[in-house]
Amino acid sequence: MNIILLGPPGAGKGTQAEKLIKELDAVQISTGDIFRTNIKNNTPLGAKAKEYMNKGQLVPDELTIDLVWDALDKVEDGKSILLDGFPRNITQAEALDEGMQKRDNKIDKVININVPEDVIIERISGRRVNVSTGKVYHIKFNPPKVEGIDDETGEKLIQREDDTEAAVKERLDVYNKHTSVLIDYYNKKGILVTIDGAKTPEEVFDQIIKSLEK
Ligand code: AP5
Ligand code: ZN
Repeated sequence: MNIILLGPPGAGKGTQAEKLIKELDAVQISTGDIFRTNIKNNTPLGAKAKEYMNKGQLVPDELTIDLVWDALDKVEDGKSILLDGFPRNITQAEALDEGMQKRDNKIDKVININVPEDVIIERISGRRVNVSTGKVYHIKFNPPKVEGIDDETGEKLIQREDDTEAAVKERLDVYNKHTSVLIDYYNKKGILVTIDGAKTPEEVFDQIIKSLEK
């Protein structure tokens, strides 16, 4: 089963993806995580992506779409695919339809994680991440055992560079202008389910699992 996690910044896409890949034995493709790894490793792609990301803007489609093809081509046959942060506009959604078709594959479900703006701000301001692995914590809702340290690897946790007030405002604007139209796009295809993302991570996860069983 191939799934897209759709939702505004801070909705909990990464948090749910981490749980879902274990449950479904799926491969996660997170464009945001791929860009952040490239930035950390000082690659040319990272340098280009950083300019856009730190302002809260979308990285150009021509860079993003190619990167998703590369990731899709590496997925072993028979494994489920979980897309987090892609597609983010109609161009990317159409490219994905075409790309999946060419690979004799398709998207089965789109999970729209609905979260109000005040909750988003609280989540993003308390988020801490391990950039090496993409593991996400929250200082209040999901704190690490030792402050500032990843439980799993012992590496340092940091605040994302695009979690500043100005960048978050821009990310929300970009979501409202370019990404939220995908709710309608996938609803028309009959594969969209909307769930309440303002509950605890476990409750959100339960709703997702139930929606996949339908
Ligand atoms: P990306 O990394 O995809 O960021 P985003 O969409 O803004 O989403 P976030 O990662 O901020 O939030 P999330 O929904 O994953 O929430 P999380 O689980 O972390 O993209 C970043 C940038 O990269 C973009 O702005 C763009 O520049 C570029 N980019 C990426 N993809 C692109 C594309 N396709 N095209 C062009 N450009 C692209 O949770 C947030 C916090 O809340 C955490 O602290 C977590 O612990 C906590 N939390 C999660 N769930 C709960 C809960 N239920 N209750 C309480 N706390 C919770
Ligand atoms: Zn994320």
